[in-house]
Parts: sequence; structure tokens; C-alpha cells
Amino acid sequence: MLHPGTKLTLQQRERLRVIGIESSCDETGVAVYDSEKGLMADLLYSQIDLHKEYGGVVPELASRDHIRKTLPMIDQALSESGSTKHEIDGVAYTAGPGLVGALLVGASIAKSLAFAWNVPAIGVHHMEGHLLASMLSDNPPKYPFIALLVSGGHTLLLACHGLGQYELLGESLDDAAGEAFDKVAKMLELPYPGGPQVARLALDGDSSRFRFPRPMTDRPGLDFSFSGLKTYTMNTLHNITNPTIQDKSDIALAFQTAVVDTIRIKCQRAIQQTGLSRLVLAGGVSANLALRDRLKVLGSKHHVEIYYPELKLCTDNGAMIAYAGLQRLRQNHTEDLSITVRPRWPMTELN
Ligand code: KG4
Ligand code: ZN
Repeated sequence: MLHPGTKLTLQQRERLRVIGIESSCDETGVAVYDSEKGLMADLLYSQIDLHKEYGGVVPELASRDHIRKTLPMIDQALSESGSTKHEIDGVAYTAGPGLVGALLVGASIAKSLAFAWNVPAIGVHHMEGHLLASMLSDNPPKYPFIALLVSGGHTLLLACHGLGQYELLGESLDDAAGEAFDKVAKMLELPYPGGPQVARLALDGDSSRFRFPRPMTDRPGLDFSFSGLKTYTMNTLHNITNPTIQDKSDIALAFQTAVVDTIRIKCQRAIQQTGLSRLVLAGGVSANLALRDRLKVLGSKHHVEIYYPELKLCTDNGAMIAYAGLQRLRQNHTEDLSITVRPRWPMTELN
């Protein structure tokens, strides 16, 4: 019980408002999240046009563009949310994993604002941000649950027992699922970013033409490996002289089906191994509709609830960083003002 006149600490206060900055790769995201009002502003700027001509993200160009965009977007997010700087209780930013230069831009701006506004800075783990994005939906999952995190840099299966209590069940030993999509897109001469393009091309594919392998499903365990599947895809393509659009569509579909089915098999094993009855999908590849549909079927077969963020919150965004930052602020996970980032940062170190 508090004495009258005692100042509440941030952790004791019921209502908090946090601004979140995402700058780990090729998207600048800035959002304001309030524990009572929810998402009050959510701005996203994609650098796709900047990197397109190079066929992938150029780290130095990414950093410079984050410098140009972040501060104006912070101004806009404050104004769209109707917030003054005095109403912001913390500045959350992506501290890793990601591109070091891009991360440093977000970290420097976040720490400077935290200093100027005299509020804490909160360094958020990018993949925890993705994981918690599903909490922003109308029907958020309750702990404990299995999480399938599939992005451009990570493929992780986790048993999540609470905020920051993540048990690693399996992970990719080489390419991440999104990375494999991006590399296959390049082979098929599709523009960057490749995942959505492969998915689009696969729509016209003939499913009876090829059957690609489901890597690492013939042995026990929950780890993934997509590098061999990528090579198999390349060899199939090279065996066709002058491939037509139809050939490429058939290959795109066979590749996507193999990735989706491999993930489905591992998720089914994770359900059996843990006995958990909720499965949360997150990360860029969770925007893939074939994957969502396949896991929905798995869920109904095994009486497991399937959760995923709305499509725009699957890929990188500021909302997930603001939300995760607020949860971490409640746990007093704040930082000093030294500017450090962690380009490599295993998620289990959050525990
Ligand atoms: O989470 P994210 O936006 O960034 C990282 O943290 O990496 O994920 C980006 C990845 C890219 O590899 C992109 O190709 C993939 O997600 N992706 C997709 C789809 N949308 C995005 N992959 C397959 N199908 C999609 N619809
Ligand atoms: Zn991401």
C-alpha cells in the first residue's frame, strides 16, 4: 500500500505510453503504444526502392536512410498520437539482432531522446518484438504456447512460458526460411524482396509436376535446414533449358510446398513433444498464406489454437517494438545511456 503523496515508479503505474523505433534492417518503423488506448500511431517506411537495383539490402545505404527518416517519423508519430514528449514514459528501440549500422542509428536516437526527455530507454530484442506482435490482435494468445518465428534471419521453434521465458525447441542450422525464399526468388529472377514474389508465382504452379524434399524430417528433432532444399531448387531449374514462366511457377510452388510442409511436420512434433495447445506464428514468412492455411489445418486436426499477427504486423514494424518495450519497461528492463547494440543475440539469453 502506498502512502498518499508517494510518487509511483514506472513499474507501479497502471498506465504507460511508449514510443518504439525499429531500424534493424530495411524498414524504418516508429509507433506509439499506450497500455490503455492501444496503438496510437504506427508509421512504416520501407527502403525497398532504395535497395531494389542491387537485388538485396546494402547495409550502408540502409543506415543512411534510417538517419534521414527516423526523426521526422518520430515527430509525426507524436503528433498523430496526440502525445507531447511529457506523456512518453519510455523510448524503446531494436537493440538487435540486425545490421550493426542500422541498429546503431535507432539506438543513438533512442538514447538521445531518453536523455533529453528524462525517461528510460528500453533495448528490445527484434525477435521478441515479432513474437509479441500477435498480442496486438483482437484475440491475443495466453501463455504457455509454442512460437514459430520465421523471418529473413531466423527460423525458431520456442516453448514460451511467459514474457522472457523462452525455451528453444529447434532452430535452423543454416539458411532461415525467409532467406531461402529470397535466394530462390533470385534464382527465378524475381525482384527483391523475394518471399512475397515466390508466393505470388506459386499461385500459377502445377502441384503434380515436382516433389521437392522435406529436409531433416526423416530423423527426430526440431531443427531445420533449408540450404539443401535451395540447392535442389537450383539444380531443378538448371536442368530445364530456357525455363518458361510456367516452369518457374511450378518450381516456385514445389519449393514453397516443401518449406511449408517441413515447417508443418516440425510444428506437429513440437505440439506432441510439449503437449501445448496454442501455436503462435510470427515473423515475415508468417505472412505466407500457404503456410497460414497449412498450419490452420494442423491446428484443427490436433485441437490446437493457431494465432498470427495481422498481415502488416508480420513483417518488420515499429508497433511490435513499442509494445514489447512497454512490457519490458513494466519488468524494469531499462538501460543506461551508453550506446550499444547486439547484431547477434540468441533469444534464449533474454531469460
Ligand atoms: O520479419 P521480416 O520482415 O524481417 C526480418 O526480421 O528478417 O522478414 C522478412 C522475410 C524476408 O525473407 C521475406 O522474403 C519474407 O520474410 N516474407 C515472405 C513473405 N512475406 C515476407 N516469405 C514468404 N512468403 C511471404 N508472403
Ligand atoms: Zn524482422
